[in-house]
Amino acid sequence: MVVSSTDDFQATVQKSYDKMSELKAFDDTKAGVKGLVDAGITKVPQIFVLPPKNRPESLDTSEKQFIFPVIDLEGIDKDPINHKEIVDKVRDASETWGFFQVVNHGIPTSVLEAMLQGTREFFEQDIEVKKQYYTRDITKKVVHTSNFDLYSPSVPAANWRDSLFFSMAPNPPSPEEFPRPCRGILRDYSKHVMELGCSLLGLLSEGLGLDRCHLEDMDCAEGLGVVGHYYPPCPQPELTIGTNKHSDNDFITVLLQDDIGGLQVLHQNQWIDVPPTPGSIVVNIGDLLQLISNDKYLSVEHRVLSNKVGPRISVACFFSTGPLPSSKLYGPIAELLSEDNPPKYCATTVKAFSDYFRKKGLDGTSALLHLKI
Ligand code: OGA
Ligand code: NI
Repeated sequence: MVVSSTDDFQATVQKSYDKMSELKAFDDTKAGVKGLVDAGITKVPQIFVLPPKNRPESLDTSEKQFIFPVIDLEGIDKDPINHKEIVDKVRDASETWGFFQVVNHGIPTSVLEAMLQGTREFFEQDIEVKKQYYTRDITKKVVHTSNFDLYSPSVPAANWRDSLFFSMAPNPPSPEEFPRPCRGILRDYSKHVMELGCSLLGLLSEGLGLDRCHLEDMDCAEGLGVVGHYYPPCPQPELTIGTNKHSDNDFITVLLQDDIGGLQVLHQNQWIDVPPTPGSIVVNIGDLLQLISNDKYLSVEHRVLSNKVGPRISVACFFSTGPLPSSKLYGPIAELLSEDNPPKYCATTVKAFSDYFRKKGLDGTSALLHLKI
C-alpha cells in the first residue's frame, strides 16, 4: 500500500478493511498480541498500524542531553538534613519532569525479579489456562486483556501489548482467584509497593508545604491497581507502538520495568528514554495529583516503543480506587489556594474521572482537560 499523506492513509484504511470486525476477531481469540506472534506473523496487522502522523519518529533523538532524575531514598527517616534533601529532590522532579527513578527504596531485588518473572510466566503459560482470565468486565478483580481501549473510537491504533490487571486494595482477591504463576508474589509485592507509595506520598505532601500525612489522609493510597504488561517482540516496530502516549489517571504510579527499555517521557518537548536501571523503580505523578496540587506537580505524557527484541515486561502499580464506587470529591487542596493561585480544576470523584479516562482510551489527549476551569 502506497500512501502519500495522512488523509490518504485514513481513506485507504477505511476502504480496505472493516476495522470493527478485525478488532472483534482479534479480541475473540483471547490470545492477545502474544497469540499473533506465536502464530508466526511477519507483518503487523492493520488494526495495530498507526497513521503516519502518530508514529514515533526514528529521528526523535534528543538535541539536548538531559539527565533523568534518580533519587536515593537511603536513610530517608534517619537524618533530618538528608530527609529535607530528599523532599526537595522529589518536589523538583515532580514539578519539572513529573517522573523520577528511586533507588534504595526498600523493596528487595529478589522481590522485583520474582514479580517480573511471575508476570512473564502468566503470559507464557498454556493458552487454554490463560484464556480463562480474559475479560473486559472491569468489575472483576483479576482482568486479563489486550488493549483495555480496543474499541474506543478516538484511539489511533491498537497497542502491541497484553495486560493483566489486579485490584489489590481496598479489597484484594482471595488467594484462589489469583492465577497460579503470580499467586505468592503479588501479595508480597503489593505490600511492599503500598509501603513505598505511602512514604512517597509523605515526601510529596511535605514538598507541597503540607503535613506529611496530608495526602494519605485524603485517601490517596486507599486504592491500588497492579497491572502486569507483556510487550511481545514486534516484526515491524516502526509501524506501531507498545503504549500510546498518555498520562496516568491516578494519584501516583510506581512502575517496575525489566532491562529491555522503550519507556519514554515527554520533557521540554522531546521524548527522553527512561533508562532501565537494575533494582530501581520509576515513579510518576498521575492526573489526580496534578489536579489536587493545582498544577504544582505534573502528570506528564509518556509512551512505550515497540521493539524487535522481546518480550518486555513491566508492572505498573496505580494508586487509585479506579472504577470502584466513590462519592468523595477531589478538587485543588484548599491550603494551596490563594488569590494569586485560584483553583484551576473542578472537583471530581475518582470513579467519574476513571470512567471518563477508560471511555476515551489512550487517544493522545489528557483527561484533565475536561475538568479545567
Ligand atoms: C502504564 C504505563 C509503562 C510501561 O501502564 O500506564 O505507562 O513501561 N506503562 O509499561
Ligand atoms: Ni502510564
